[in-house]
Amino acid sequence: MKQAAIMIDKHFILSDIDERIYGSFVEHLGRCVYEGIYQPGHPAADENGLRQDVAALIRELNVPVTRYPGGNFVSGYKWEDSVGPKAERPSKIDLAWRVVESNQFGLNEFMEWTKTVNTQPMMAINLGTRGLEAAKNIIEYTNLEKGSYYSDLRRQHGVEKPHDIKLWCLGNEMDGPWQEGHKTALEYGRIAEEAGKAMRLVDPTIETVACGSSNLDMPTFAFWEDTVLSQCYDQVDYISTHQYYGNHDDNSQQYLASSDGMDQFIREVIAICDAVKAKRRAKKNINISFDEWNVWYHSNEQDKQIEPWTQHPHQLEDVYNFEDALLVASMMITMLRHADRVKIGCLAQLVNVIAPIMTSDTGVWKQTIFYPFAMISNQGRGHVLHTQIKAPTFESRYGNSSYLDAVVIENEAADQLTIFAVNKDLADDLELTCDLRQYEGYCLDQHVMLHHDDLKAINTEAAPDTVAPVAGKNLTFENGHLSGMLPSQSFHMIQLKKA
Ligand code: AHR
Repeated sequence: MKQAAIMIDKHFILSDIDERIYGSFVEHLGRCVYEGIYQPGHPAADENGLRQDVAALIRELNVPVTRYPGGNFVSGYKWEDSVGPKAERPSKIDLAWRVVESNQFGLNEFMEWTKTVNTQPMMAINLGTRGLEAAKNIIEYTNLEKGSYYSDLRRQHGVEKPHDIKLWCLGNEMDGPWQEGHKTALEYGRIAEEAGKAMRLVDPTIETVACGSSNLDMPTFAFWEDTVLSQCYDQVDYISTHQYYGNHDDNSQQYLASSDGMDQFIREVIAICDAVKAKRRAKKNINISFDEWNVWYHSNEQDKQIEPWTQHPHQLEDVYNFEDALLVASMMITMLRHADRVKIGCLAQLVNVIAPIMTSDTGVWKQTIFYPFAMISNQGRGHVLHTQIKAPTFESRYGNSSYLDAVVIENEAADQLTIFAVNKDLADDLELTCDLRQYEGYCLDQHVMLHHDDLKAINTEAAPDTVAPVAGKNLTFENGHLSGMLPSQSFHMIQLKKA
């Protein structure tokens, strides 16, 4: 059997985990908002039209921050259309997705929803078709108490206390030619600097995220980050990264290596942030907000059939299979292995649209990717230990890829040590060892595994539990040594606890 080892030292702490690394994303796109989180008249909806069956699953995922309202949608967004009496809100065309937006769910409804699912807002502003004026007005509306036009307007709209939104994205994917109001790096760097400055003048306690590259393969990648940060360094705290993967040529082993691309992306963006820091003799670090990541490709063909200018059509409704769940686990492990610099992560998206949660008029169900996200989000709290891996490798487009992905997390407050591990080997089991003698008095408390013989297995409304976690077996913890077998194509949560 192939051998693998995980090596840690309890004193070699990489970083505390910022819980916002387990964030998600709600965009006005397809059925994410309408028929997703919001469906007035549905039997499971509350008096505000918020679907409580969906909210319950979101709470299970445990999502500390949610990005809103886009995405590409935000580059044409007029926030003023989304507030005030619903009967007076205009229906507008949205060029990003070529649909009609009714504005029946808007800024204040979103803020109400955040409370029901225990999440914090991460609000994006429109730097595509709009600019400084709209940026300073929206934060006056959301964050000032009273006594000015927009803060009083919010009060007239029935919201007495400010929303106090702390985290702001300065536009979305402004490097992308598909974006309304697409900009060059220099144009964007300047407007991000001025918008960040104006918004901080209104509320100096906020944090801001500048747009980085839309993916690692963008022709402007690296030049973009360098130019943008050289302009707006002092006005921003994070730079965004976005990345989606797909098994386009049906080669599952290669597909599972994709998280190595994410790792490369993170390492290269950190290098650029630090180079700009050095050039500017700056004191602060710019950290990474990986605010869109997921698998996205299953729905590409069906989305070409969508009739334009309809309202919330079925769009980007990827049905995820078991191998997608393995890659999602690996992507989360990759971000955690960079927890010293990746502070925010947003699984794109939350409901119906490339999402872990699906809805119909009759129910809700969990897609395969729900499980690794929920397991890691709920149990992956504390600090990350430097995690060394010794495992066999395979050749991929990223070089030598390890069959084993793993990260070890210590939660001192709960006296817990948690290992998340993926065996990406599609043919062979891995014989795992891990020397944990430093954790005297600990015992093996939980071992939960996600495994299926069929990489293409899916969950549906009729068969929602085809892919679901089961109790792990074949692991022992004796005399401080963890050992046992990780079956081929499997994800594991292994937790030790002080007895
Ligand atoms: O999440 C779907 C889309 O992907 C977002 O709107 C956009 O930012 C990205 O290209």
